[in-house]
Amino acid sequence: MEIMGIDIGGSGIKGAPVDVDKGEFMAERERFDTPQPSTPAAVAEAVKALIKHFNWTGPIGCTFPAVVLHGVTLTAANVDQAWINTDAEALFRQATNCPVRVLNDADAAGIAEMTFGAGKDYKSGVVILLTFGTGIGSAIFTEGVLLPNTEFGHVELRGKDAEHRAAARVKTEKDLSWKQWGGRVNAYLQYMEKLFTPDLFIIGGGVSKKFEKFSPYLQTRAQIVPAQLQNDAGIVGAAMAAKVLV
Ligand code: BGC
Repeated sequence: MEIMGIDIGGSGIKGAPVDVDKGEFMAERERFDTPQPSTPAAVAEAVKALIKHFNWTGPIGCTFPAVVLHGVTLTAANVDQAWINTDAEALFRQATNCPVRVLNDADAAGIAEMTFGAGKDYKSGVVILLTFGTGIGSAIFTEGVLLPNTEFGHVELRGKDAEHRAAARVKTEKDLSWKQWGGRVNAYLQYMEKLFTPDLFIIGGGVSKKFEKFSPYLQTRAQIVPAQLQNDAGIVGAAMAAKVLV
């Protein structure tokens, strides 16, 4: 079954038609810069352009970096504030004339990793996927089932929103060494472990490509592994989540 997957992030909007049974792209992915300001109308235009690029007319699964409840975006930590309470599904449906399902970006990455990537052998137990990028995204699975919209990036760490201490963006902005940043990530993982005692942490986001640079500073009882689908996880997971439209 082929479904269009789109991954909307703070800096880029990426998409590709996905074979959801294999977790593979059916064509080379396309990427546009996220418009700034990232207003709903501007992002909808970019989604429309992506659909046009592939001449796509079928179902679409689409991620968004926020809490998404029944297609409505309820928060906007790293995107334009106008997204709060926007019916994103209706907006993208109108822009593309296609059936659309919208879900949280980390939830989508988690769905893909649990089926085709680092979590595929963990169908029992508790798995937490965390994406480190502009913010920190989270997805938790128990017995392979997702609890959506967990927003663990916003737990408090040393009196601050965790993503303001340990997102990959903070490493760049504060010019932290791998050791310094790894120490922050470790404190965060240990806190998450105290709360949830997972069997496995999957570390996602662009920075997971450099996992070996900071993994020496990470230590939890749970196993810690890098995501396997990396940049493609959001697109694949979005398409998988949209199977319900077919
Ligand atoms: C948002 C989450 C999102 C994460 C990663 C956070 O700031 O609140 O919804 O999953 O960033 O993009």
